[in-house]
Amino acid sequence: TDYGEPHRPRFHFSPPANWMNDPNGMVYHEGEYHLFYQYYPDSTVWGPMHWGHAVSTDLVHWEHLSVALYPDSLGYIFSGSAVVDHRNTSGLGKEGEAPLVAIYTYHNAERERAGHDDYQYQAIAYSHDRGRSWTKYAGNPVLPNNTGLRDFRDPKVSWSEAANQWVMTLAAQDHISFYGSDNLIDWEHLSDFGSDLGSHGGVWECPDLFRLPVKDGDDSKHVLLVSINPGAPNGGSGTQYFVGNFDGTTFTLDPAFASDVTNERGVWLDYGRDNYAGVTWSDVPESDGRRLFLGWMSNWNYANVVPTETWRSAMTVPRVLTLHQTPAGYRVFSQPVAELETLRGSEFAVAEMEGNQPAQPATDESAALAFPAPASAEVKLRYSIEPGSQARFGLELLNEDGEVYRIGYDAAKGHYFSDRRAAGDHSFSDAFTGTFEQAPRISDSGELSMHLLIDRASVELFADGGATVVTEIFFPSTDFNRMRLFAEGEGVRLLDSQGYTLASIWP
Ligand code: FRU
Repeated sequence: TDYGEPHRPRFHFSPPANWMNDPNGMVYHEGEYHLFYQYYPDSTVWGPMHWGHAVSTDLVHWEHLSVALYPDSLGYIFSGSAVVDHRNTSGLGKEGEAPLVAIYTYHNAERERAGHDDYQYQAIAYSHDRGRSWTKYAGNPVLPNNTGLRDFRDPKVSWSEAANQWVMTLAAQDHISFYGSDNLIDWEHLSDFGSDLGSHGGVWECPDLFRLPVKDGDDSKHVLLVSINPGAPNGGSGTQYFVGNFDGTTFTLDPAFASDVTNERGVWLDYGRDNYAGVTWSDVPESDGRRLFLGWMSNWNYANVVPTETWRSAMTVPRVLTLHQTPAGYRVFSQPVAELETLRGSEFAVAEMEGNQPAQPATDESAALAFPAPASAEVKLRYSIEPGSQARFGLELLNEDGEVYRIGYDAAKGHYFSDRRAAGDHSFSDAFTGTFEQAPRISDSGELSMHLLIDRASVELFADGGATVVTEIFFPSTDFNRMRLFAEGEGVRLLDSQGYTLASIWP
């Protein structure tokens, strides 16, 4: 594969060919970030799941490795996680070396067809050669399903200091179940969380539990990520989160966060339609200290039918998650990892800076007023905005076919927006061009910033330092090759702007 196909991202991870969904088994080990992923090597649509595999030493460039886990008589290999078993608690280590242990869900399609409810259960596999080859544990499954729940999957395992044991965070239909283990093999139910909290527009999937320091404070809190499909604020798949405390047994909401997630309301990690099933890397060294996240850049509403020919879907860029006390309460911010800056090439203009007038109103001459720009780029915009402004402003991407993608901020609504209705092919799904309604601005500062990563067929917006995030994909018939800043209404001024070409990560 040359990664030159139409829509193929240049600096995002995508599989060499065929179908990919969730990131799995993300773990840092001996200088490598592992990325496994839900993979069907025989087709460009979802099918019997495997774990595909890639590694990176810098979170930017990825090396494809061979398929790590194949389906077997126990079922397809669904989503899960991986840990370094430093103290060899599992006894699966060899010659004093800590094994890598993957914890995943088996999905037994035959049992499902036969009408049983217990067709999803948890299993482990281990590796002694830096994840290059894997042995499935002979005693699988390690956590059979005696819950009566069909949806019982996506184990995320981490070491809990409070419990002094391994804790498995598992999606169980409409709630999260926590299990504990001394050895990654024998699991005991600890508690359940969430059946009456957060959003329940769909089934809960792909959870993650980790601790984050509160920025500029001495406190730290636990964050529980929960992906849900459907039920996302702008339709289909999305990831909500809860802020609280996990005491080793039970997750309790922080009192200051509780009112945000009652009455079916959720707080969302990303308001775009294309960031799903994301979780964080295990075992990132303390000397690094970052909580590193990556998600699947698609949506079950249309993932199987998007117009790419040889492969389907990409991951978001790796992001750093941080926890902040904001005017809206505790919020998780996301920012692209700094390593991506190594891809910056030449700087280009996105605006006429003279007089600091940000942009012309949208007119038919849009295209004429645009600046030439690469299809894979980074753009940073900083505005001042007056209280009471009703302006609508942001960035347009344009191509030679008259297609246009728009992303920006609507001050009258207090929300960011993404408009891909005229951005190219959308004939493959009605859900793709549904209206984009929610992406609340959290910050109340008079200075507003938009940091955008654009990669041919996707945009990731990190607004206000990552307080509001919007990730969206689109399919222009030719690459966007111009950009234009637009502004409608009064009370907004561009302070500065930078554009950088971003290099491809593929050889
Ligand atoms: C989320 C998900 C997981 C499941 C996997 C199957 O996108 O539905 O819950 O493990 O995909 O491919």
